[in-house]
Amino acid sequence: MQTRRQFMAGSAAATALLGLLPRQAMATIPFETIDAMTASVQLAPDGYPATDIWGYGGTAPGPVLRVAQGGRLQRRLVNSLPQASSIHWHGIRIDNAMDGVPGLTQAVVEPGDGFDYDFVLPDAGTYWYHSHNRSMEQVARGLHGALIVEEDTPPDIDREEVLVLDDWLIDPETGQISGDFESPQARSHAGRLGNLVLTNGIFDKTMTVQRNERLRLRLINAANARIFVLGLFGLEGWTMALDGMPLPAPEPLEEVVVLGPGQRADLIVDVVAEQGSTAYLARADEARGTPQVSFQVRGQASLARRGTPDALPPNPGDAFNLSGDSVDLTLNMEGGAMGTLRGAMLDGEETGFREMAQANQFWAFNGMVGMPDTPLATLDRGQIARLTISNDTAFPHAMHLHGMHFREVLADGTLGPMRDTLLMDSAERREIAFAADNPGDWLLHCHMLSHAASGMMTWVRVA
Ligand code: C2O
Ligand code: CU
Repeated sequence: MQTRRQFMAGSAAATALLGLLPRQAMATIPFETIDAMTASVQLAPDGYPATDIWGYGGTAPGPVLRVAQGGRLQRRLVNSLPQASSIHWHGIRIDNAMDGVPGLTQAVVEPGDGFDYDFVLPDAGTYWYHSHNRSMEQVARGLHGALIVEEDTPPDIDREEVLVLDDWLIDPETGQISGDFESPQARSHAGRLGNLVLTNGIFDKTMTVQRNERLRLRLINAANARIFVLGLFGLEGWTMALDGMPLPAPEPLEEVVVLGPGQRADLIVDVVAEQGSTAYLARADEARGTPQVSFQVRGQASLARRGTPDALPPNPGDAFNLSGDSVDLTLNMEGGAMGTLRGAMLDGEETGFREMAQANQFWAFNGMVGMPDTPLATLDRGQIARLTISNDTAFPHAMHLHGMHFREVLADGTLGPMRDTLLMDSAERREIAFAADNPGDWLLHCHMLSHAASGMMTWVRVA
């Protein structure tokens, strides 16, 4: 067989031939790998035992992947786990074959096997990657990381921090992850909530900053089910982007930042706390005031704060309007504890709620439990879909659409920001609209991963 060297040393004729070869023959340089593997790490505070995790590269979160906008990511997933796996690149307007959904866009990657992910990243922003096989277990065990697509012209900041927020359900005695991933209690209620809340895998994450320093915080909610409600203390600034997509203008941070599972927010904040004090990103949920990240203010970056930052540059094709050919769709979410669902279609059969519960299934979309054989809709490319979602359950849900961002159609008829995950409260009815501009089969599911695993899953096809 010809070696690569001989091949490359070939004549001009051989070079001309290169263009005719199938791509596989040219892929002589193996992709950099991303290893899904087991590891033991110190997640809980000092004094507690280490925790066995599953992580990309043996850490949780996995390595921060950075790509320039319009660039290409090439990574071989090497599965060294005891379970089959795959990677989904959450929020990327991706080539469908690279979306990482076993059974829909690719075959599952068995232990010992690999899969080459190779795709272009059209949009700048804060994204993330995570396992999409048995996600409710594999993401909880640590298989997730940040994916940053950098703008050509970055905003004027002093530093950037990627902050992956997560919670872990840990036995405090052993330090081990609770193995009850199928818990009917978690599935039928708010999902798997952890008892150890971390930032970048660190308890009580602390960093040193300077007064008047300008930070870009890229917040990612990687938790299975936890809704992060965050307040800023000693930090002031703006929301710049949601779910990766820039807002048309920076939005002053006056209230809490709410992130459902899967959601992201890019903030630009200035350190306004005095030197010698501590600023916080703190939880404003039931653990009111618990620091999520502490910023110790040491020294001064400048005498005064800077002015309002410019908006981040818009991503291509993020403008669409509702005039033109659109199709109306509805999605009714039902089930769960304290709900009114009496039964639904499960595996092609009308099934009562009790029998559903025995099969550890609790939720339905439009009267159907779990992934249906036929899509919720088949859309023509370029068509505008308007989807009304009713949450007829007693719990909030975080609805995530793969492959395309959507905008909420607000009560006054205007359109909200581009998002890929919509956090919906109990009993809410909301409408989203999206341009079906990415061909392929795309999941639409609740990102509370135990809900997705127990019924809240459907898909749309873009022809
Ligand atoms: Cu972030 Cu289908 O998932
Ligand atoms: Cu849900």
